Amino acid sequence: MGNKYLVTGGAGYVGSVVAQHLLEAGHRVTVLDDLSTGFREGVPAGAEFIEGRIQDAARWLDASYDGVLHFAAFSQVGESVAKPEEYWANNVGGTMELLAAMRSAGVRTLVFSSTAATYGEPVSTPITESDPTAPTSPYGASKLAVDHMISGEAAAHGLAAVSLRYFNVAGAYGDCGERHDPESHLIPLVLQVALGRRESISVYGGDYPTPDGTCVRDYIHVADLAEAHLLALDAATAGEHLICNLGNGNGFSVREVIETVRSVTGHPVPEVVAERRGGDPAVLVASAATAQERLGWKPSRADLAGIVSDAWAFARRRENGS
Ligand SMILES: NC(=O)c1ccc[n+]([C@@H]2O[C@H](COP(=O)([O-])OP(=O)(O)OC[C@H]3O[C@@H](n4cnc5c(N)ncnc54)[C@H](O)[C@@H]3O)[C@@H](O)[C@H]2O)c1
Repeated sequence: MGNKYLVTGGAGYVGSVVAQHLLEAGHRVTVLDDLSTGFREGVPAGAEFIEGRIQDAARWLDASYDGVLHFAAFSQVGESVAKPEEYWANNVGGTMELLAAMRSAGVRTLVFSSTAATYGEPVSTPITESDPTAPTSPYGASKLAVDHMISGEAAAHGLAAVSLRYFNVAGAYGDCGERHDPESHLIPLVLQVALGRRESISVYGGDYPTPDGTCVRDYIHVADLAEAHLLALDAATAGEHLICNLGNGNGFSVREVIETVRSVTGHPVPEVVAERRGGDPAVLVASAATAQERLGWKPSRADLAGIVSDAWAFARRRENGS
């Protein structure tokens, strides 16, 4: 029989895909989610579901759990600038309660969803884990604060912890896919144009120092990401807080994404070049060398057309109500 894991935020995009992978690997899964941005039907069949907050995790966490995978958070950069207090309360305050609950229950393994936003403006490309962390939003700052909290918990109380710093997660896995509301991620936004739900896609800045003038980002398939979480559970070591970037190591420009959506969907996808947005670095690409070395992880779905095709299949299924 497999292990038993608590998946916080498992009704959301990434958490539901990881929960599905854990179930497929023979583990037992309990999803704890308050449905603030997630969906009850997103919880994979076979997982136990608790509708509740991580702030109250002590009510449910006990020694029967082998570990926690912690996805629950608010994660909209723009919203975090407008309402920083909510990000500190939920992301930092909530994780503080979760760590306390884990300590008292004796649950000593944690995999945490950190983010590329902890780095802020990159000093070099690709970004490595030893690069400076200087987040440019309360969202990134709240995630970095949690990373610091976890380092202390590992050093002082022997937690076995891995933080995975995701770059741009994309694609879908079976019935689990991306459905943020409001949506701020490029691929689902471009797909909304292809579905006829948006007239055009805005390209923020066409004069960046990149080959086609648009920003370059590192897209990682959500199923590759899920595999990294299972490897992280195996690699977690008592007293150590391991931090690993997760990306393709390969950037794609905004225009390449739009072109790929055109060829996958057959829709012309009109684009409108708009002013640059403040705080958007030209290139954000991860070095995944640490993840490869420490977790034995390598992305196997790095092809942009494959990522977009999977996201498109999911978006169309949702549109048709199936
Ligand atoms: N999607 C990305 O590209 C990306 C990139 C970097 C990091 N991340 C991180 O990955 C994690 C998952 O992201 P996602 O895209 O799946 O977001 P999501 O909004 O789809 O999922 C987050 C889930 O957490 C739940 N939640 C929030 N606060 C909670 C609380 N206090 N108690 C219980 N449940 C709560 C929400 O209801 C939701 O189901 C987040 O921590 C995010 O910061 C995501």
